[in-house]
Amino acid sequence: MITVSNLTKTFNGSRAVNNISFSVECGETLVLLGTSGCGKTTTLRMINRLIEPTSGTIVVEGINILEKRPEDLRKHIGYVIQNIGLFPHYTVEQNIAIVPLLLNWDRKRIKRRISELMELVGLPFEHLQRYPRELSGGQQQRVGLARALAADPPIVLLDEPLGCWIRSPEDRSRKSLGTLRSYSIKPWSWLPMMCLRQSALVIRYA
Ligand SMILES: Nc1ncnc2c1ncn2[C@@H]1O[C@H](COP(=O)(O)OP(=O)(O)OP(=O)(O)O)[C@@H](O)[C@H]1O
Ligand SMILES: [Mg+2]
Repeated sequence: MITVSNLTKTFNGSRAVNNISFSVECGETLVLLGTSGCGKTTTLRMINRLIEPTSGTIVVEGINILEKRPEDLRKHIGYVIQNIGLFPHYTVEQNIAIVPLLLNWDRKRIKRRISELMELVGLPFEHLQRYPRELSGGQQQRVGLARALAADPPIVLLDEPLGCWIRSPEDRSRKSLGTLRSYSIKPWSWLPMMCLRQSALVIRYA
């Protein structure tokens, strides 16, 4: 599904990612866990082609991503970025609808999907017309997650997205787990790692 081979990225001569290799099969979850600055976000950004590797290859579904148009690649990858990255001039509804619109979904289907997602991430429907600055940080993270899942992509990259989600042990064991389980994100062993603030995930969910 995703095969990363000998991936290296240097910025101004200093190595942000140093010769890493891994693969993630369909239905598997990979957690990149490491200290701050060790290269987790940089790795995810290369998978999404926001930046290009200095050397090494990334193959997604059998094709080297450099051979795909970045916009086509991204239509199949949900990405929750570390600093949330909602478009400030778009409402919550418009933010979530971005990829479905690019995929030419009809209005009814998009509306239905947005309702499902608001429920999934636990946000009230009244918030749909708000702008990101009118939401709390945690609520913005939830919108970011809804946006990443909007078109039901085969690949989801989560860069520390769930700080908002897991606020207490009770939370972790009940609603959050149940909600995410309904999305078949597995295996469940990764969830405790989300409490550490230094994890990034590459997820393929069934
Ligand atoms: N655009 C850039 N230009 C120069 N250096 C960069 C750039 N982006 C990242 N770096 C450096 O690359 C290294 C890896 O950064 P990265 O953001 O991938 O870390 P991370 O593992 O995600 O850290 P954190 O856990 O703090 O989010 C860091 O030393 C960072 O300063
Ligand atoms: Mg990071």
